[in-house]
Amino acid sequence: MKKPKKNNKKRVPKANARSGHILIVDDEKSLRDSMQMLLQGDYQVQLAKSGKEAIAIIKNHPIDLVLLDIRMPEIDGIEVLKLIKKIDPSIEVIMITAVVMVKKAVEAIRLGAYDYITKPFDIEALQEQVAKALEKRRLLRENASLRKIIETEYQFEKIVGKSQEIKEVFRIIEEVAKSNATILLTGESGTGKELVAHAIHNRSPRQDKLFVTVNCAAVPENLIESELFGHERGSFTGATERQIGKFEIANSGTIFLDEIGAMPLPMQAKLLRTIQNKEIERVGAGYSSPVDVRIISATNSDLRSAIKKYKFREDLFYRLNVIPVHLPPLRERKEDIPLLANHFLNKFSREFAKKIKGITKDTMSKLTTYDWPGNVRELENLIERLVVLGQTEYLERDRLPVEIAGQPSPISAAEEQSLTEAVKKFEVAFIKNALEKTGGKKGATAKLIGVHRNTLINRERKLGLQDKRI
Ligand SMILES: Nc1ncnc2c1ncn2[C@@H]1O[C@H](COP(=O)(O)OP(=O)(O)OP(=O)(O)O)[C@@H](O)[C@H]1O
Ligand SMILES: [Mg+2]
Repeated sequence: MKKPKKNNKKRVPKANARSGHILIVDDEKSLRDSMQMLLQGDYQVQLAKSGKEAIAIIKNHPIDLVLLDIRMPEIDGIEVLKLIKKIDPSIEVIMITAVVMVKKAVEAIRLGAYDYITKPFDIEALQEQVAKALEKRRLLRENASLRKIIETEYQFEKIVGKSQEIKEVFRIIEEVAKSNATILLTGESGTGKELVAHAIHNRSPRQDKLFVTVNCAAVPENLIESELFGHERGSFTGATERQIGKFEIANSGTIFLDEIGAMPLPMQAKLLRTIQNKEIERVGAGYSSPVDVRIISATNSDLRSAIKKYKFREDLFYRLNVIPVHLPPLRERKEDIPLLANHFLNKFSREFAKKIKGITKDTMSKLTTYDWPGNVRELENLIERLVVLGQTEYLERDRLPVEIAGQPSPISAAEEQSLTEAVKKFEVAFIKNALEKTGGKKGATAKLIGVHRNTLINRERKLGLQDKRI
């Protein structure tokens, strides 16, 4: 809540000038008129002399902000506020009150009013509050419309994006999904290869059949053959039961060979044979059986250079790479960052039942300039962490880890401060950053910054950081 400031020389934000519809509700004509005079240059202003009249106007006109007198005959301001919020909770309301009625104004805020101003009011303070309330409404609307856009226009299966690069990926998926063509997905870690593999399967005629994933890097070398092709009982020590392999499980569906670059060389030969002959042989079976499987593989390593080092078979590479699909790193498609950030914000706000409304401009500009070495996964993990730990309505820049927010320039910031102040500021940022990295765990944070746990707790107390979760 802002008290009217005297001699406030700050410039009033006018970015939304003339874009807001304001309704002034007051039973006193002189007040209505003076407020109208103040605001009508910048906004569309309407007047009402009672609550009843106000409600009728709100029902029939697009009103963004209501300046509402608390004390009025017939229905009082608090009742009118309740009615307004019932009609459209997104309409902002600023209460006008006499100093003696501040208690009521506080109640109004609890009921959803944006703020209150006391009579007689300070002109600049009023203009500032009006501009801020309208800015808040604009932000909310923007977020809501962005959400709608994400859910419809810029989403393909579960893949979000609007850059030319990602649109090209959508186009290829659409084109190849219907065929049985073998696909090789390449791209750095976290760029969405697995997501794309699912999208291809979901758009293919095999969509009702299984999508089976094998992470070639996660299966021990001596088990990969039986993992892929299965084994007969007794075929090797420990094979007490017959096992069906992933290829057989995926029969008539899709198999996703993730991290194909980690496939051991002897297995590469067997895989090649499977692809060529469209049949598999269980370990110890002595005969082959036909399989009909669509193969999508993925790698974040450079297979061509692995071929040169004799670590990957060239003939297998050409078999797998019938249709190459490359997922560009996030830093090469920065237009996707705001969409993705909002997409994850909505997803995690829902998941953790948090009421976070959006990402501030300042935060977003930092998110879009950062290079994201971990790509979309890194962005997703960051937003998840911010949502879980966040306690403010918007994701603020000071919540970002220092590598994204950038180091505040200590010299220029300190120019107008005493040394003690500058050191304190740095210490706060430093400790906040460390706490952020460890998810707020004191012990781990102390270890990270190389001090004893008690020293950290003492510093926090001194710096006023206590109990504020980062
Ligand atoms: N365009 C996108 N839209 C929405 N979510 C995305 C997008 N790209 C990636 N993600 C999400 O980012 C995370 C990482 O994606 P995914 O697992 O597909 O990456 P990957 O390329 O397979 O990474 P790795 O090589 O490390 O296995 C997942 O949670 C995924 O849902
Ligand atoms: Mg993956």
